[in-house]
Amino acid sequence: MHIRIPSIRSMLSSVSALTFIALSGCYTRFDPLTFKDDPQSTMMPMSDLALSTDEIYWPVIWITVAIFVLVQVLLTVAVVKFREKPGEPMPEQVHGNIKMELGWTLLPVVILVAIAFPTVTRIWEAQTAPEGEVFEIKVVGKQWWFAFEYPELGLVTANEVHLPAGRPVHLALHSGDVIHAFWIPRLGGKRDLMPGRINHIWLTADMPPDGQDSIRLEGQCAELCGDSHALMRMEAIVHTPESFDKWVAAQKQAAATPTEPLAAKGAETFLAAGCIACHSTDPSNAQAFLAPNLSHFGSRPRLAADRFENNAENLAAWLRNPQAVKPGATMPNLNLNDQQVDALVAYLHSLK
Ligand code: CUA
Repeated sequence: MHIRIPSIRSMLSSVSALTFIALSGCYTRFDPLTFKDDPQSTMMPMSDLALSTDEIYWPVIWITVAIFVLVQVLLTVAVVKFREKPGEPMPEQVHGNIKMELGWTLLPVVILVAIAFPTVTRIWEAQTAPEGEVFEIKVVGKQWWFAFEYPELGLVTANEVHLPAGRPVHLALHSGDVIHAFWIPRLGGKRDLMPGRINHIWLTADMPPDGQDSIRLEGQCAELCGDSHALMRMEAIVHTPESFDKWVAAQKQAAATPTEPLAAKGAETFLAAGCIACHSTDPSNAQAFLAPNLSHFGSRPRLAADRFENNAENLAAWLRNPQAVKPGATMPNLNLNDQQVDALVAYLHSLK
């Protein structure tokens, strides 16, 4: 038998093609030079829960890299050294080697047990409520947005979850329709949001980086849940204790009363066109899970479950035809005219 060794050129082109495919899956909204502050990286843990996974992740990665390199080196040596050469006789043919077979059976068993032990221990730890006081947040997934309720504070938010750093938090996870999954990679997870069942996450978020009073992290639904699953995103804002108190105080304020004429007209449209039937502008828990609460909508940097930047142009496009920008969105097309859209944009953006 004659083994053909691929040419260096074809090997290089295969390797670069594979590298390109692998890199195309990378997320690049962070500074590649400093490798800092990626809002949605599983490799930059920002909570005790995320860290517990990270501490298993890296040893497993290095073990598999070592195995991969070892296998590739042995394979290359075997292919090059033992290939058929003209004039050489057929080497001795052997069948079975008890020592080697025991070796390649037992070594993987040892490695798997070594990985399984900390993994299973940490799964158990992650499922256990911490002792002492815990800050409660109820999370409800809907097609295709997230509602958050803070029972102790009497507040609700949509698509933005605010957490106090350094305090144990309990996320009680539930769904209002189909199965979704809650996943903010830097805080850990992910866990399913299911109808008819409450799942749990306990975590303590780390302090924001030095000099910052809060940090915005990104997350998304991680369970295929319908047309706009890929657009079901959210942000987590981790605050220092002072910043969290400030946020709570601001959030408890009633929605602003518009003073500007166009915004005031928008407030009337909000009632007349029927927006109020689903959306509340009461920051307490009224209609928390029916549609996103809009009490302080103007202060949110993102729109439609982190789909767009919350600017006038994007908001107008969303109001004109929600399904066009988010397929299957449950928000109906109210056939608003241009004046109504302009007034609503002014009103909603006045709700700081
Ligand atoms: Cu909700 Cu995917």
